[in-house]
Amino acid sequence: MAELTSISLNHPVKLQMGTFYVGVWGCQMNVYDADRIRDLMRAAGFVEKTEPQGADVIILVTCAVRAKAEDKVFNQLAAWRHQGVITKDTVVALGGCIGSELADQILKLDATVNIVFGPRTAHRLPNMIARCRTTGDKVVDVEANALEKFDALPEQGQRGASAFVTIMEGCSNKCSYCIVPYTRGEEESRPEQDILDEIVTHVAHGVKEIHLLGQNVNSYRGLTPEGTIGRFSSLLYEIAAIDGVERLRFTTSNPMEFGDDIIQAIADLPIIADSIHIPVQSGSDRILQLMRRNYTSDDYRTLIGKLRQARPNIYISTDIIVGFPGETDADFNETMRLVDDIKFDTSFSFIYSKRPGTPAAEMADEVPLEHKRQHLYTLQARLEEYATQYSQAMYGTRQRVLVEGVSRKNEHELKGRASNNRIVVFAGEPSLIGSLVDVDITQVMSHTLKGQLV
Ligand code: SAH
Ligand code: SF4
Ligand code: F3S
Repeated sequence: MAELTSISLNHPVKLQMGTFYVGVWGCQMNVYDADRIRDLMRAAGFVEKTEPQGADVIILVTCAVRAKAEDKVFNQLAAWRHQGVITKDTVVALGGCIGSELADQILKLDATVNIVFGPRTAHRLPNMIARCRTTGDKVVDVEANALEKFDALPEQGQRGASAFVTIMEGCSNKCSYCIVPYTRGEEESRPEQDILDEIVTHVAHGVKEIHLLGQNVNSYRGLTPEGTIGRFSSLLYEIAAIDGVERLRFTTSNPMEFGDDIIQAIADLPIIADSIHIPVQSGSDRILQLMRRNYTSDDYRTLIGKLRQARPNIYISTDIIVGFPGETDADFNETMRLVDDIKFDTSFSFIYSKRPGTPAAEMADEVPLEHKRQHLYTLQARLEEYATQYSQAMYGTRQRVLVEGVSRKNEHELKGRASNNRIVVFAGEPSLIGSLVDVDITQVMSHTLKGQLV
C-alpha cells in the first residue's frame, strides 16, 4: 500500500502511507478528537479522503452514550461491507467512546474491525496502523493517561471560523445513568498555558470563535504557569485577553459548581456568546436525586435567574432525559413545569437508555416504552414552541453573525451563526467567510433565519 508521491527535483520526496477516511458520531468532544486525528494522520503521511469508498484506512470515532449510537456504527460497518466499501485490504479502526466501553468485545461483534482505540489513545493510531499492517494482527489499545494525547498530537491544522478546544478530559460526576465516566475516565484538566497556546495557534489561522469543551467545564481546575490551580472563570478572563478571539462559547456546564465567579465573568466579558447550554435532565427533585445530579429544580431556577440578571439577553438551552427508571407522570409534569418556568431555547431531549455497568442499569424500569415515547413527544412539542417564539422575536433585529461558509441550499448565499447560536442565511460574497458581519433579520423559519447584510 505504501507508495512514493511528489517525486520532483524541486520538492522533497514524501512517503505516502495510503489514504484515510474519518467518520464521527457523538458530541463535540468526539468532533474535536476526530479533527486532531485528521491532523495526526496527515502529519504521518496519509492523505485524507472525504468519502470512505476507496480509503485504505477507515477510522470511526464513535459515541456510546445511548444504545442507539452503538447500533448505528455496527449497522454502518455492515452496510459498507455489503457495498464493497470495506474490502479485505481495508484497515478498519473503530474507537472513540465506544472503544473504551467495549474494548476487545468489539472484535467479536464485528470481524472486519482491525483496530480498537479509545478517546485517550487516538494519538497512537499511526503506530497501531503500522503494527496491524506489518503483523496482520488485530490491535486493541484503549488505556492511557488522560492528558498524554494532548502532548503527543501535532500542532492544530486549519479549522475555519470557529474551533473547538478541549480543556478537560473525562468526568468524575458519575450521574447514575451515564456511561461517559467509564468511557472517558476520571476528570482531568489540561494546564492553562497549553489551552492558551492552542487558542493562539487557532487565531493565527484566522479562527474568530473559540468553543471550549469538557463534560463539566465549570469544574475546570488546570495548573497555571505560576503553579497554582486555576479556575474556569480565570481561564475565561485569560482567553478574553487574547488578541483576535472575538467570540467565546463553552459546553457543557453542569448546574452544579456553576459559581458566582463564572456568572460574574459572563457579566464582565461581552465576547462570551449569548447562549449557554446547561443540561438539567429532569424537573423532578426525586428523579434528580436518583440520577445523582446533586441539585434541585429550584437550585436550577435560581441559577438561571442569576444568569439572566447578569446577561438579560442570554438564551438557555438544555438536555432532558425522559423515562428514567421509575419516572411517574407526576415526575414528568414537574419537568414540564420547569420547562414552562425557564422557557428554554433549542434543546435536546432523549428517552432514557440503559447503559451496562451504570448504577441506573440496576434500577427497576417498569415504565412501558410507548408511555416514554408519548412523554417525549409532549416535551419536544413544548420545547419547539419556545424555540420558535425566540426565533420569531428575532424578526427585524440586527445580529452580529460569524460567517462560517456558503449555504448548502444556495451557492450565492452565506451561512453563519448569531451570538445566540441561531443559523442565519444571507446573500453575500464568499470573501466574507471567517469574518463577523452585521445582518438584519428579514425572515424567520423554524430554526433558520434569513437576513440582509448591513
Ligand atoms: N456532561 C454533560 C452531558 C454529556 S452526555 C452534562 O452532564 O450535562 C449528553 C447528554 O446525553 C446528557 O446531558 C443526557 O441528557 C444524555 N444522556 C446521557 N446518558 C444517557 C442515557 N443513559 N440515556 C439517555 N440519555 C442520556
Ligand atoms: Fe455524564 Fe453526568 Fe458526567 Fe455529564 S456530568 S458526562 S451526565 S456523568
Ligand atoms: Fe458520546 Fe463520548 Fe460524547 S459517549 S456524548 S461521544 S463523551
